[in-house]
Formats: sequence, C-alpha cells, structure tokens
Amino acid sequence: MKIQSSEFITSAVNPGGYPPGDLPEVAFVGRSNVGKSSLINKMLNRKGLARTSKTPGRTQLINFFRVNENFMMVDLPGYGYAKVPEEVRVRWGKMVEGYLKNRANLQGVFLLLDCRHVPTAQDKQMYQWLAHYGVPAVVVATKIDKLSNNQWAKQQGVIKRTLPLSPEHRLVPFSAETGRGREELLEVIAQWIAQ
Ligand code: GTP
Ligand code: MG
Repeated sequence: MKIQSSEFITSAVNPGGYPPGDLPEVAFVGRSNVGKSSLINKMLNRKGLARTSKTPGRTQLINFFRVNENFMMVDLPGYGYAKVPEEVRVRWGKMVEGYLKNRANLQGVFLLLDCRHVPTAQDKQMYQWLAHYGVPAVVVATKIDKLSNNQWAKQQGVIKRTLPLSPEHRLVPFSAETGRGREELLEVIAQWIAQ
C-alpha cells in the first residue's frame, strides 16, 4: 500500500466526538512515550502530523487521521504514565476502553511495546483484553534502532514469554528513525481494511 494523502480530522474524548464511522479504522495503543505518535508520522511520512514529545502524556485525546481518503488511523492516549493525577489516569483508561469496545468500524489494533523493556502489567492486560475480545491485533516493538540484532534476539524472547504472545499474533520490530517495519505494517493495514 502507498500513502498518497493524510489529514488530521478531529480529537475526541467520547463517542459523541468521534467522526462518522463510515471508513475502516486502525488504532494504535500502548504506554505513554512508547512511540505511537512517532510511528503514525513515520507511516504517513509526515513529520509533525501527530504531535510527539519527550515528555510522556503528550497525546491526551483520541486523535483521528484520514489516510488516502479511504481509512482512518487513530492515535490513542498512552496508559501507564505515573506522573498524572489518578483521576486523569482513570479518565484516559475509560476513554481508550470506551473507544476499543464501541467502535464498530475498528478493523485492527497495533499494540506498541518499547523493544527494550519487559512488558508491564498494563501491557499484558491490554494484550489479553484484545485477544479476549478477538480484536485483530499486531504487537509492535518500537525504537528498534536502540538495540543491536543480538540484543533484539534476546529481548524478543522476553516479550513473547511475558505477554505471553499467542502464535496467531505477529511481533513486528519498528523504528520511527529508520523506517524499519513500515512496509510490513502497511501491508497489515491493507489486509485489515480490505476485510
Ligand atoms: P504519548 O502521546 O505520551 O502517549 O507518547 P507516544 O507513544 O505518542 O510517544 P511519542 O511518539 O511522542 O515518542 C516519545 C519519544 O520517543 C519521543 O522523544 C520520540 O522521539 C521517541 N521515539 C519514538 N519512536 C522512536 C524510535 O523509533 N526510535 C527512537 N530512537 N526514538 C523514538
Ligand atoms: Mg502520542
């Protein structure tokens, strides 16, 4: 699949604010700072379309981007960021869960994990939740430019065992710096939106 056009559509907190669900949609979830917005920008070859930051908690709303006039990419707020008040964290959790549960045109979810870290309890919970509800999902190991091939070979095992990753789910290494993994994820999207 080639990216021909992309545009920001809207930000929302609840279903009332979502754009019409008339196009197939794919969403990106994961811990705060894992690289969701950077991945979206790299996929779309657009530097600042999704706002990124060194400070976790940048994306605080559900952001919708229309791509090639025929599908949507959705940037979800990151979970697991300890430095926001409990009340805000609960609100973000509800926002994300509300979206994942109720969006009928959602075709698949990319769960992003930092390739260097052991998946957290929340990562496991998110993975198991997606598996339980039978949402098509691909796990993405972000920031792969930070590991050598040897380190990745080991770390891959840690991630697979910790989730634990089921054989039906792919684990794709990705770098927003080098573009590694981009073509593979575009192919996944092409399949999902053709369903
Ligand atoms: P929230 O919106 O807070 O949930 O974060 P996010 O998941 O959208 O992360 P974001 O894309 O803002 O990236 C967080 C930080 O990681 C930024 O400093 C990025 O430059 C950096 N980063 C993201 N992806 C990569 C990558 O592939 N390689 C490297 N080296 N750094 C990355
Ligand atoms: Mg973000």
